Parts: sequence; C-alpha cells; structure tokens
Amino acid sequence: MGNRFFPTADGVGLVPKPDRTAWLKGGEAQCLRPPRQPLGRAWHLILLGPPGVGKGTQAALLSERLACCHLSTGDLFRTAKCLAEQDQSPAIRSALGYMTRGELVPDETVLGLVGERRRCLRCSGGFLLDGFPRTVAQARALDELLKKDEVRLTAVLNYELPVEKIVARLAGRRLCSQCKTVFHVETRPTRVAGVCDHCGGKLVQREDDRAASVVEARMQAYEQSTRPLVEYYQKRRLLIPIDAGGTPEEIYRRTRLLALGR
Ligand code: AP5
Repeated sequence: MGNRFFPTADGVGLVPKPDRTAWLKGGEAQCLRPPRQPLGRAWHLILLGPPGVGKGTQAALLSERLACCHLSTGDLFRTAKCLAEQDQSPAIRSALGYMTRGELVPDETVLGLVGERRRCLRCSGGFLLDGFPRTVAQARALDELLKKDEVRLTAVLNYELPVEKIVARLAGRRLCSQCKTVFHVETRPTRVAGVCDHCGGKLVQREDDRAASVVEARMQAYEQSTRPLVEYYQKRRLLIPIDAGGTPEEIYRRTRLLALGR
C-alpha cells in the first residue's frame, strides 16, 4: 500500500492520497491520482506561520481529511534539488542557493514557478498553500491570479508558537529521503531509528535545519518579509490565528473548530 492511500475519516476504508505531480514537476506533468471530488465545498486555504511551527504537518492532516492538494513552494524547490544538475534551470539553481543560506528566494523566481503551475490553483479539489505567499508582493500577485480564475480564498490559517518551541521542532526534524514524510526524533519518532515507517527510506536532516546561523536567517526573513502578511490578511478579514501548541491531532481539531466550522 506504501503511502499512496489515506484511511477515511471513519477509519474504515481507504482513499487515494492526492499526488502532487503537476505541482512538484510543473510543465506538462499530470497528476497520476487526481483529487477525489469534495463532498461539500472545495477549500482554498493558506497556511501562514514561522519556519518550523508545524505548517507542513497540519497540511498533511488537512489534505488527507479535506481531500485538497498540499501545495508547498519549499517542497517544490526540494524536488528540483534532487534533479541532475543539467536538468535544473538557472532560476532553480539560483533559488537553491538562497534556500541553503536561509534567505527568501526572490519574488520574481517564486512567482514565475507558481505562475507555471497556475492550473493547480484551479484544481477542483481545492488547495492548501504552504510557504506561499511569503511577501506582500507575492500575496498581491496571488490575489491577481485568483481573481482572474474567480477563485475565492476560504481563510488564512496563522499558526503561532513561542520561538523556543519552534527551534526545538526544527532541531529534531527528520525527513524521509524517498517519500519525504516528516518525522521528529522526540515527538514523532520512527519505529526503527533512522528508517522511514512508510517506505523504509533513509531519514535525513534538512540542510537548512542544520546550522544555527541558517535557522536564525530563516527566522529573520520571516519577521521582516512574511509577518507583514498577518496585517495584510487581517485587513481582508481572512486571518484566523491558531495556537500551534499541543499534539498535531489537537492542533488539527482546533483548526477544524476555528476555521472550518466543524
Ligand atoms: P519551506 O519549506 O516553506 O520551510 P519553512 O517555512 O521554513 O517551514 P518548515 O518546512 O521549516 O516548517 P513547517 O512549519 O512546515 O514545520 P513542520 O510541519 O515540518 O521553505 C524553505 C525555504 O524555501 C525558505 O527558507 C526559502 O529559502 C524557500 N522558499 C520557499 N517558499 C518560498 C517563497 N514563497 N518565497 C521565497 N522563498 C521561499 O514541523 C517541524 C518539525 O516539528 C517536524 O519535525 C514535525 O514532526 C514537528 N512537529 C510538527 N508539529 C508538531 C507538534 N504539534 N508537536 C510536536 N512536534 C511537531
């Protein structure tokens, strides 16, 4: 079964996990398993919050249960990093340099990549944007894209946690080198140390989680460039602050209650 299926919300059956081929690969790439049609509305959500607060973890839970695709710009760059160097475009190569240093990739590059994947924003299953937008310029550009496609944002979920807890989450994070599932050495350990529970892949530490100076640069980039989005979305009455303390399941339940009305 690998990790291609999710249990249904009642735990009885299995549903196909939306794959993100169109988003991760871009160009003409098609998703192998298009999302199942949502029973009610399709959700169009942005996940906001500092690096390491747990956006990706919540996005995985929300995507599983709401059937919408997890569109992460960080995952998009990390996928490109695995390509042979001759297959990486100059824009991607330059983006990876910014990432390694913990700096934001320039807006022009990010917007170029998102623009190429615009069809994912129109996907009938809806979306969960994680790591995008990250600057006011990116948020304005997203507004334009959505307006043209007549897609309305449902809400912007702003996850909040004291910085010392965030740093502990980042320091213990481990990633499967194959299926990219996220673990944590203390709070979400694997059954066998260093080996992914889902596919048996080797666990690795993200390059930008290793050096304290890079983590600090990412936090600074958040404060300078991304925090202004809190006010941006507050003014548009879309922002929902969510306490990111507790277990992933507790935070998920809080998110459902505060933002999704159930
Ligand atoms: P990106 O990949 O977006 O990283 P990030 O924002 O730094 O966020 P993280 O992935 O580090 O954290 P997260 O909040 O998803 O936490 P997670 O769920 O993994 O971006 C990386 C880089 O790409 C950027 O620095 C930039 O260079 C570039 N980039 C990307 N998008 C860009 C854009 N739009 N513009 C410009 N540049 C861009 O959780 C962390 C750990 O905590 C895990 O180990 C997890 O298991 C654990 N954990 C999670 N929840 C809990 C919990 N409730 N309790 C205990 N442990 C928990």
